[in-house]
Amino acid sequence: MKPKLLILREIEHHTKDLLSEHFDIEYHPSYSLEELQNLIQDAEALLTMGTLIDENLIKNAPNLKIVSNISVGYDNFDTHAMKKAGIIGTHTPYILNDSVVDLTFGLMIGAARRISELNSAVKRGLWTVKNDINFYGLDIHHKKLGIIGMGRIGEDLAKRAKLGFFMDVSYHNRHKKPNLDEENIIWKPLDQLLQESDFIVMLTPLTEETKYMIDEAKFKQMKNTAIFINMSRGATVDEKALYNALKNNEIYAAASDVFVKEPVNKDNPLLQLDNFTATPHIGSASKETRNDMAQLAAENLIEVFIKGNHQNVVPELQFLVK
Ligand code: DGY
Repeated sequence: MKPKLLILREIEHHTKDLLSEHFDIEYHPSYSLEELQNLIQDAEALLTMGTLIDENLIKNAPNLKIVSNISVGYDNFDTHAMKKAGIIGTHTPYILNDSVVDLTFGLMIGAARRISELNSAVKRGLWTVKNDINFYGLDIHHKKLGIIGMGRIGEDLAKRAKLGFFMDVSYHNRHKKPNLDEENIIWKPLDQLLQESDFIVMLTPLTEETKYMIDEAKFKQMKNTAIFINMSRGATVDEKALYNALKNNEIYAAASDVFVKEPVNKDNPLLQLDNFTATPHIGSASKETRNDMAQLAAENLIEVFIKGNHQNVVPELQFLVK
């Protein structure tokens, strides 16, 4: 008998076909929380994106042995609870880097040149003067970019920023990356990076250390022409402090692909601000990349659960793979 796999996301036929060679599939791309409690009962494997895997879910999942996340971030894994229950977790690193970098540039350009604000002004009939000086924005090219959290996405962003926009790039990360020195991509202490950068891009994973890392004091260190972009997780930033910094023109503009609560509440005060751009957590959400991520997540399940390999098991749970 094949092991039972519960799939909680819509996936392409070829990915489903591959999985059905190895698993007995239950396909539920849409479900309520109550339904999930039942569906999970006899699943041995789970393919999902962002479902919270905590004690609550685990207590209804006595047979669960592996969760394959269709994302690189795995802050939805309570790794302590998973460790205790012996549940392995996998994720999909690297494959999404280029798409996340594409959107990051989109938001940098959009915020600096005020694309979304001015698009809405034009559509509301507010373009009444030719060459209106009030529509000026700021340049991106040749500016200083500071990246917080220098993993593979950060490195790709840095390289494209240098090559494509002639930017001067520095980064802050727990560990310095000597391989970047020769490319003149420079590690800086956080305070210095915040004070000097024209664009600040958050790419750090959400951990206990990075929770609300960018707070009021940090915004006060930034230039009042700074543009702040959050591509990591909402809770790395104190949203109230971001609101105040934008409202009081302590920084020039911000854009965020991620929010503390997702979907974001439409009453979130940030959404009232012209100098704030929101996107609905779509960093990796091109059709091509999301399909590739689902395919990789399926391959991870087969490699790890069926073949006993370590492919893309998250570091905290590696020891569970025999
Ligand atoms: C990721 O892969 O972590 C993206 O943010 C989508 O969740």
